Amino acid sequence: MKKTVGTFQNAKKNGEKVTMLTAYDYSTAKLVDEAGIDSILVGDSLGNVILGYEDTISVTMEDMIHHGAAVARGAKDALIVIDMPFMSYQASVYDAVVNAGRLMKEGRANAVKLEGGASVCPQIRAITESGIPVVAHLGLTPQSVNAFGGYKVQGKSETAAAKLLEDALAVQEAGAFAVVLECVPAKLAALITERLDITTIGIGAGSGCDGQVLVYQDMLGMFTDYVPKFVKQFARVGDIMKQAFADYKREVSEGTFPAEEHSYKIEDEVIEKLY
Ligand code: KIV
Repeated sequence: MKKTVGTFQNAKKNGEKVTMLTAYDYSTAKLVDEAGIDSILVGDSLGNVILGYEDTISVTMEDMIHHGAAVARGAKDALIVIDMPFMSYQASVYDAVVNAGRLMKEGRANAVKLEGGASVCPQIRAITESGIPVVAHLGLTPQSVNAFGGYKVQGKSETAAAKLLEDALAVQEAGAFAVVLECVPAKLAALITERLDITTIGIGAGSGCDGQVLVYQDMLGMFTDYVPKFVKQFARVGDIMKQAFADYKREVSEGTFPAEEHSYKIEDEVIEKLY
């Protein structure tokens, strides 16, 4: 059955955990969906893990729409959330609504995600009032990496922790139905989860959140440029892929692939006439 915003709300009410994974293409979305994951995030992390950028700053609306639409074709039941890329919503409320609308119409999103707290509440309010569900994103917000001066845990001091709680309440009040908490101390994320009526989805925020999200290449051991502390590799698919690529090279070089069962037949007399 198709998961909706209501699925998130019911899970919070019933104390059930919500699962979210990223995907950026049709085949992966289909696998994630068939595994029963509640929600697929077409994250702007595609800048890192798909396009090889060092951060998410260069990701465009066209990138998000292109990958979002591919995911939407592959996922039947999962709620599809598409990230609003850097500068698609920060400059004005108008930009935010127009670009959120494009992610829904062209990318076939069920909801959009954007980074920031009180400062983007006018955008969150306007997007939700347009009928588009919004997921907020607090803590380590990678689009602000240049302001943060690196990828660091957020909310550790008394002031920073209080600001994070205040931002979480603000995005809830503005209409977000869920909030991603990234790289936040576990006890602070648990406290925010307790205080909010909306769903908290943690990544590097401990087990006290209402749900969890991971980048699929991280949890499958396919992306090893850097591995954050919060990542658990549930499989080492990268090693399996590398071995398969090497086996393919060896078999092609030795002439053992393709074998007869991989080849098409033709009557001998047809071939003989060509000699
Ligand atoms: O872009 C992304 O994949 C994200 C997750 C890390 C939450 O925002």
